[in-house]
Amino acid sequence: MSQTKPIILVTGGAGYIGSHAVQALQKSDYDVVILDNLVYGHRDIIENVLKVELVVGDTGDRTLLDRLFSSRNIAAVMHFAAYAYVGESVTDPAKYYRNNVLGTLTLLEAMVAANVKKFVFSSTCATYGIPKTIPIPENHPQDPINPYGATKLMVERILADFDVAYNLKSVSFRYFNAAGADPSGLLGEDHNPETHLLPLVLMTALGKRESVSIFGTDYPTSDGTCIRDYIHVCDLADAHVLGLEYLLKGGESNIFNLGNGSGFSVKEAIDAAREITGKEIKAIECDRRPGDPPMLVGSSEKARKILGWQPQYADIKDILTHAWNWHQKRHGGSN
Ligand SMILES: NC(=O)c1ccc[n+]([C@@H]2O[C@H](COP(=O)([O-])OP(=O)(O)OC[C@H]3O[C@@H](n4cnc5c(N)ncnc54)[C@H](O)[C@@H]3O)[C@@H](O)[C@H]2O)c1
Repeated sequence: MSQTKPIILVTGGAGYIGSHAVQALQKSDYDVVILDNLVYGHRDIIENVLKVELVVGDTGDRTLLDRLFSSRNIAAVMHFAAYAYVGESVTDPAKYYRNNVLGTLTLLEAMVAANVKKFVFSSTCATYGIPKTIPIPENHPQDPINPYGATKLMVERILADFDVAYNLKSVSFRYFNAAGADPSGLLGEDHNPETHLLPLVLMTALGKRESVSIFGTDYPTSDGTCIRDYIHVCDLADAHVLGLEYLLKGGESNIFNLGNGSGFSVKEAIDAAREITGKEIKAIECDRRPGDPPMLVGSSEKARKILGWQPQYADIKDILTHAWNWHQKRHGGSN
């Protein structure tokens, strides 16, 4: 008789990274329940691809959470639900503190009340602010330069305090730039509005946008454009399963960077996309945007060593090939 694996509650599972994590959990035989308010998530992906239970609701809804935890034998929570538009967090910080901090606090309180004490959290390299060393290690000072990064840092602090007070064990993953798509082309990135470079470049290749902007060409980098560390979303998803298993085996609370440890400039990324898509992709050089560090590259040695994480896709061409496959299927292109 096969042993049933524990049920994992995935908040934000209808979103980009959460949907890939759900797929990785399914591949490892976990049962999954998704909680997503569908403000940005995609119901069709859950119904047509993931085929798991979706509870439409908000992490700030304590009554709903209590019902969820009391009606199911949930072993752990993976928490992707958050707002993640850096620019909007500057103009509307209340929206970010309410959703990302209060929503998470409500979820954590409901977990403690239900005695569910394993938590995997989506944090971000935006908690570091302007890097003082590259590649950025986990013990780099955290000094976020926007409310979005501040909300994630606050949750990291809440998690440290919840461990001491309530024995709630957590793994926080500070991602660098999530990118790519499942190689099947059935899951991928579909933010609306979209602000991330690679999907914007690919939407331009599809003819859905006129051009892509390059913000700043006078940075102290090899070609003058910003350098970012792109990490394949399937590698992120695998790390979440490893982080979960680390906690289920009794691991102590921990924090890990998730990146490739090497970066690509904006111009390199656009050139690689031109090669993969065979399209011209018009790029317009603009002034720098305030608050963009020249280089953001993380060291993920700790995740490799402690979790045994081995990212499969370090080459931006793999990341772009998978994303292009998805974008053509999702948004329809000339190919
Ligand atoms: N995309 C990146 O490069 C990146 C980098 C670092 C960290 N992160 C973090 O990873 C997580 C997932 O990011 P993503 O790119 O998949 O975003 P996404 O917007 O695609 O997914 C987030 C999902 O959460 C849902 N959601 C938001 N608030 C909710 C709430 N209060 N209750 C229930 N559902 C809610 C949305 O509807 C959406 O489906 C976020 O926490 C984000 O801050 C993302």
